[in-house]
Amino acid sequence: MEFSLINTQIQKFDGDMVVVFANSESTFNDANIQSLIELNHFESKAGEVLLLSLVQGFKARQVLVVGLGEKPNTAKNYIKALTSAGRILTSSKAKSSMIEQANIEGHDENWRHRISARVLKDAEYQIQQVGAQEQVATLENIAIQSSYNDASELLQGSSIASGMSLTRHLGDLPSNICTPTYLAQTAQDMARTFNLECDVLEEADMSALGMGSLLSVSKGSIEPAKLISLSYKGNGNAKPIVLVGKGVTFDSGGISLKPGAGMDEMKYDMCGAASVLGTMRAIAEIKPKLNLTIVVPAVENMPAHNASKPGDVVTSMSGKTIEILNTDAEGRLILCDALTYVDKFDPEVVIDTATLTGAVIVALGKHHCGLMANDQDLANDLLAAGQQSLDTAWQLPLDDEYDELLKSNFADMGNIGGREAGTVTAACFLARYTKDYRWAHLDIAGTAWVSGAKKGATGRPVPLLTQYILDQVK
Ligand code: BES
Ligand code: MN
Ligand code: ZN
Repeated sequence: MEFSLINTQIQKFDGDMVVVFANSESTFNDANIQSLIELNHFESKAGEVLLLSLVQGFKARQVLVVGLGEKPNTAKNYIKALTSAGRILTSSKAKSSMIEQANIEGHDENWRHRISARVLKDAEYQIQQVGAQEQVATLENIAIQSSYNDASELLQGSSIASGMSLTRHLGDLPSNICTPTYLAQTAQDMARTFNLECDVLEEADMSALGMGSLLSVSKGSIEPAKLISLSYKGNGNAKPIVLVGKGVTFDSGGISLKPGAGMDEMKYDMCGAASVLGTMRAIAEIKPKLNLTIVVPAVENMPAHNASKPGDVVTSMSGKTIEILNTDAEGRLILCDALTYVDKFDPEVVIDTATLTGAVIVALGKHHCGLMANDQDLANDLLAAGQQSLDTAWQLPLDDEYDELLKSNFADMGNIGGREAGTVTAACFLARYTKDYRWAHLDIAGTAWVSGAKKGATGRPVPLLTQYILDQVK
């Protein structure tokens, strides 16, 4: 799917399908469209569609009318409208199409270009059934109506979507395919494709570094743990932005076994890893002037005779000891060693993303990612990047009072803080390992995938992270 900017009248576009927008107050100066809208009782609800064929006065074969909802046109409704349009476009036989210009409140043309390319290309993503061939899309060209001629934001939007598609694909893969070894292989393939530096630590290497916490999670699994790092260098020796992604390729809970219902969804427990790999792909395509490193601790959490048991005490790479009170609080056990390890990159800033707690779904549902940080400027930048990309986050506190809940009689800390504020105490645990740099944590347990009939990975928070990273160049 290729994007371009075009500055012609929508009626004159000589292709398969044109997309025009209608909101609660729009009346079309094209009388044909106006009467067809009325005839079909089209209400212009956000995302509502009306597909018309052979409309008089239009050169294109089909006209897709898409609702933008109540006036003024909001960014959220624009995304809803584009998502519907993208679905129709990619499932039709159309090869070429044109999207009408729309004014979106609070946003400029560049924003519209980037978001249009991203949302339309993301709509092309299809879940690949295991063993099936990848389907080739019929839609080849999308021309976005604009009076601008700088198409760089289209490339950015389309690169963000290709990052999201990697993230979604890895998330959707079952855990018997997407193992820690598979994630390492994926990173190595990316290194070759995009000319990146890749380094994969094996269990023996991690053991030599003293990563007793990370290894305590994987020891009950037949799948060997990997610690993957991948670096993009676009600005000489500048300090890198470092992203860390939780890569639990299956979270059974370990000896603190999870209940059976819905346990299949724990294949998504590597969506943090998938999102930093996807962000790397987007950045490697866009090639901005900065340095980026991603680090992925990848493990499988299984019960076994040789698995960690509640009450076990382990020593992390930092030297701090941890009493494992619940083997299902494994994400923080692998992240703490990864967060100590990233010191070697001399990071400008460190952001981790993790499907860390069920509690964040209780607190924020499936709309916002949970955000916690040891630096308010960084938190503000991430909140702003979320607003820009409409991949939003909501900040939760990190006061000392919560940290005290991690007290243990047998080690420097326990790995759980009790029933209350589970998302915050998980972040407090991580915060103990991030004192040496500016750090933020995104809990994406609610946003990384959807359940039910539309079960599948969302590709979040690739748009937020990529937006934040690109904002650091300007
Ligand atoms: N991967 C889970 C978090 C999770 C749960 C994500 C449900 C999405 C849906 C994490 O490893 C976990 O099990 N966390 C526990 C922590 C608890 C034992 C303190 C949880 O949230 O129940
Ligand atoms: Mn768990
Ligand atoms: Zn987990």
